[in-house]
Amino acid sequence: MAAPLSFVLNGKPVTVQSPGDRMLVWVLRDELGLTGTKVGCEAGLCGACTVLVDFEPVPSCATPVADVAGKSVLTIEGLAVDGRLDPVQKAFQDHHAFQCGYCTSGMILAAWSLLRTKPRATRAEILAHMEGNLCRCGAHVRILDAIEAAGQVLGGAR
Ligand code: FES
Ligand code: FES
Repeated sequence: MAAPLSFVLNGKPVTVQSPGDRMLVWVLRDELGLTGTKVGCEAGLCGACTVLVDFEPVPSCATPVADVAGKSVLTIEGLAVDGRLDPVQKAFQDHHAFQCGYCTSGMILAAWSLLRTKPRATRAEILAHMEGNLCRCGAHVRILDAIEAAGQVLGGAR
């Protein structure tokens, strides 16, 4: 059996017995039951599986679970507080910034990581930051609108 591996998941300590080279997304989905993190390309190219590790976006399909030992992992399940949507989630909802929703968890977490330190990010900065997150449904414009709107809530009007 693999050696235990501990990290903080959505604010709570967890320990898993996964092989260290198992990709984080499968540990989250199959072992910890958090299926909000989606799997698209499985090659680190589409952003669907984005989670935050120590507040930085990473593709969980290409991140061995051993790499997050002792770190803090935030998934989409960790954003709402007491059933209240986070402002970024709320802005996505208000702007209908999705169709099928498959890219949405990764989009929201990537956006959240930017707005956390830079709520007044410009449209160009948002675009550059979101480059690794693809939406096959073509909701990109509404996604950018939602991120800008969330920034206004978090950082005050521009
Ligand atoms: S599924 Fe991980 S980047 Fe596409
Ligand atoms: S809403 Fe379908 S991939 Fe983005």
